[in-house]
Amino acid sequence: MVQGPLEDGSGFPVEDPIEAGWRILRETPPLAAWRLLHRLRAEVLDGIARTVGRPKPPQGLSRDFLGVRVEHPIGIAAGLDKDASMVWLAWSMGAGFHVVGSVLPHPYPGVEPKVLVRLSDGGTINRLGLPSKGPSRVVERLSMHKPPGMPVAVSIAAFTPKGYGEVYRAVSGHAAWVEVNISCPNVETHRTFEDPEEVETICSYLKPRTSPILLKIPPTRDDALLKRYVDAATSCGFQGIVAGNTMKITYKGLNAGLGGPRLFNTTLYMIKRLRTHAPEGFKLIGVGGINNGAKAATLLKAGADLIEVLSAIIHRGPKTPWTIAKELSTKRTNNNPQTS
Ligand SMILES: Cc1cc2nc3c(=O)[nH]c(=O)nc-3n(C[C@H](O)[C@H](O)[C@H](O)COP(=O)(O)O)c2cc1C
Repeated sequence: MVQGPLEDGSGFPVEDPIEAGWRILRETPPLAAWRLLHRLRAEVLDGIARTVGRPKPPQGLSRDFLGVRVEHPIGIAAGLDKDASMVWLAWSMGAGFHVVGSVLPHPYPGVEPKVLVRLSDGGTINRLGLPSKGPSRVVERLSMHKPPGMPVAVSIAAFTPKGYGEVYRAVSGHAAWVEVNISCPNVETHRTFEDPEEVETICSYLKPRTSPILLKIPPTRDDALLKRYVDAATSCGFQGIVAGNTMKITYKGLNAGLGGPRLFNTTLYMIKRLRTHAPEGFKLIGVGGINNGAKAATLLKAGADLIEVLSAIIHRGPKTPWTIAKELSTKRTNNNPQTS
């Protein structure tokens, strides 16, 4: 509760505006809510978020990741904030870190018709097709807004290898790390770059290297393919892999991506196998189906360095990353009382 002033100065309880906003969004069809969030003036979101402030990070979870301090390992995955208009909002949600994007080298409207559906099992189906305002808006925002204690990464995508180079050069100095998204399942009319051989072509354009780069790969249980991704990523100088993206599905005859709990076992498999194949110090971010502290703990134990969530936020609201971190912290304290 935020305290509002009364004439006698005692104040009265006013609901946290972010929770109040979420209550409205929760009753709104998800695609309309997503559009509304992207149409609101960023400055309005900034103002509300800075007034609310940031919740205290759960104890005992901070770590270094590629040279930056992360207060806890649960962050917001790419897709919620395409154009960096919600960095302060993410900060006031208590996220450990925030991934903006995917950003394309030029403004692009995405595909039509767009779809965003909440499933009854806690999952999502989305078909947005990488809408982006292009890098200039993101760079303008990130050069002016650096919320303390919360690293901001940027996810990039493009339809040509050269395009990846253009958008990387534009955003890289402004990102704690850059996630190179080769795995969006909704880009019908353009080619994607999911073959590990394509990764080598793309990476020759990612120069000069002014921010660490991670490769975001699609969900798969093909262990040989996972090894090829690790080999391609290490030979190209990627510092890590983000595993994975939404899963390709057909929804009402349209290409779309599935997120949420049904991905979790695949995500866990990927992290275990990638950790086996990866060289010492190679970073892994697990994303896909994480919606509570127990799943987060399992993934971290399997070898993930950080965790990202999205479908769980769309279902449970803005404080979800912080709540998962809190559950993780409580679980750790209960298992190791001497560390509390
Ligand atoms: C509405 C929506 C938009 C997304 N947009 C992107 C995107 O632009 N770039 C990207 O790398 N991943 C994108 N994703 C994938 C998520 O980052 C994440 O990898 C995926 O949803 C699995 O995590 P989850 O099970 O927690 O949802 C999007 C997902 C959703 C639901």
